Amino acid sequence: MTSVTSLFAPVETDLDLLTQNLKGLIGTRHPILSAAAEHLFGARGKRIRPAIVLLLAKATLIDQEIPAKHRRLAEITEMIHTASLVHDDVVDEASVRRGVPTVHSSFGNRIAVLAGDFLFAQSSWYLANLDNLRVVKLLSQVIMDLAEGEIQQGLNRFDTNLSIEAYLEKSYFKTASLLANSAKAVGVLSELSETAIHQLYAYGRHLGLAFQIVDDILDFTSSDEVLGKPAGSDLKSGNLTAPVLYAMMEHPFLATLIEREFAETGDFDQAIDLVHQSAGIQRSRDLAATQAKAAVESLQVLPPSAARQALHDIADYVLRRVF
Ligand code: IPE
Ligand code: IPE
Ligand code: MG
Ligand code: MG
Repeated sequence: MTSVTSLFAPVETDLDLLTQNLKGLIGTRHPILSAAAEHLFGARGKRIRPAIVLLLAKATLIDQEIPAKHRRLAEITEMIHTASLVHDDVVDEASVRRGVPTVHSSFGNRIAVLAGDFLFAQSSWYLANLDNLRVVKLLSQVIMDLAEGEIQQGLNRFDTNLSIEAYLEKSYFKTASLLANSAKAVGVLSELSETAIHQLYAYGRHLGLAFQIVDDILDFTSSDEVLGKPAGSDLKSGNLTAPVLYAMMEHPFLATLIEREFAETGDFDQAIDLVHQSAGIQRSRDLAATQAKAAVESLQVLPPSAARQALHDIADYVLRRVF
């Protein structure tokens, strides 16, 4: 499998700079919060979101240096994402993230909630300083959407009537909104036509949905070691994702097990078996593939370049994680 880093080749040095900058941006006024932030940015995620922002900057401004505002946007995007993960891990009670203990397991829930808030607030400050009202609105919407997504997911726990449409809507709020709106913001900063701006939004939206569906499949098929975070926990906590929703259509007994919240011995293992015996995982792969294909089609609005090719390859990479 091509490593994710080699896909980012056209913006490799820009990404290294970004990682360095992120640590600096957090500031040192609050030692405990900066310790928490240092811990996160030190552990290094895949950096797929800032890579996409930087690649889109390159693909929309061919033969130019990436402007400072685009770089800052990439940093803000990763800050927002990281803040949402700190809060997500508190909600999910997850012990590991990016291969290291989560902020709440190292510093406690109180610090983790505050550290997440602090990162959101910091990102808003840098966002405002971009001095572009339209971009401020786009990324503020993302922060609202992230909360909306977590709330929807929390309210729908163990709800076996959840539809694929509602699952996709929640996934838009939790994951795709950030990719869609930051891609759109690149279009705004690069002063593209409204049609092109819309296509960049579509790329981010489709890619984000594919990414979340793939993450949800990996929760069933991968391991803690490979993911750097706990696998197999969505179903247990009642978060019903694509593989389960499809599996329930084939095996109604799965819904019974979920509705009684795996109260009886063996319920949970049986539920996992039913998911694997069904076409749920394959149908989820197909759903992700449809989204990734739509993402790639949206890129046609950009002129050919190495950066556009990398954006295309990222869509393939997302799928290859589960094919
Ligand atoms: C995790 O995102 C949250 C989801 C949207 C599935 P990533 O898988 O991009 O996490 P990092 O940034 O690489 O840690
Ligand atoms: C994505 O969803 C998290 C956010 C966008 C906040 P998940 O809950 O599936 O993320 P992981 O699996 O914990 O990384
Ligand atoms: Mg989670
Ligand atoms: Mg997940």
